[in-house]
Amino acid sequence: MFITTTPAASTKLLQRARTVAARCGVRFVRRRGALSALFAKHHCDLAYVVRRDREELRTKDAALFVHPGMLALKRATGREHPFIRALEWNGRCTTVLDATLGMAGDALHAAAELEVQIRGIEGSAAVHSLLEEGLPRMAAVADVPGLAASRIRAEHGTALEVLGSLPNASTDVVLIDPMFDTPRPSAPGFELIRRVAYEADDPAALLAQACRVASSHVVFKYPKRATYPPCDACVDGKAVRYLIYRAR
Ligand SMILES: C[S@@+](CC[C@H](N)C(=O)[O-])C[C@H]1O[C@@H](n2cnc3c(N)ncnc32)[C@H](O)[C@@H]1O
Repeated sequence: MFITTTPAASTKLLQRARTVAARCGVRFVRRRGALSALFAKHHCDLAYVVRRDREELRTKDAALFVHPGMLALKRATGREHPFIRALEWNGRCTTVLDATLGMAGDALHAAAELEVQIRGIEGSAAVHSLLEEGLPRMAAVADVPGLAASRIRAEHGTALEVLGSLPNASTDVVLIDPMFDTPRPSAPGFELIRRVAYEADDPAALLAQACRVASSHVVFKYPKRATYPPCDACVDGKAVRYLIYRAR
């Protein structure tokens, strides 16, 4: 991957692109023409592009950036949505720690439906940079997704480290949605995010820490087609199974 801007970028955009490049440990490439020319010149098919209107991960034919996605559709069933039922499994969900924030699709859903504050951890510097630009951009718009975005605080860090530093029972619900080999059919942008995702933490260790930090329960999002480990309860969605583990 390399980091670039749009052509004729302002000093501010160039500075931001250099910052993202340093943080991701990849090169900054000055953009003078088409992105396809840079892909060819640098023998690389993935770029992080800092634009005036948004930041995005780009390949020749796909783009990934922070946006409301299917939020309106997900909210059509309100608190009956399987994800919301999983979060409210114990009847209480006033604080959520999303240990694998990704593009914040789940966090936006929880923040909009339950009107809760979300602390989100993201291990990939590139994904965290997208969030750093995208959540405030969304929050600047006075609508439901904007209000939801304003309730999410995205931190760069690894879930195991951050959870390990937190006291017992310090948040109601911890959400874990790591990268699985089998993508959910409904996961848009999966292949793009997979290229920059953080995947190093051991899921069993993560679950143990999450169960310690949660005061109510942990929701572990699993592809429905995969064989799943023992859990205390589960809620089935269309393509996803929400495994529930009591706090310990
Ligand atoms: C499947 S995506 C999460 C999607 C998210 N639930 C959503 O709705 O957009 C997994 C994300 O979590 C991050 N991640 C995975 N394991 C992590 C860990 N142990 N610590 C921090 N981030 C992690 C990956 O970098 C990736 O961005």
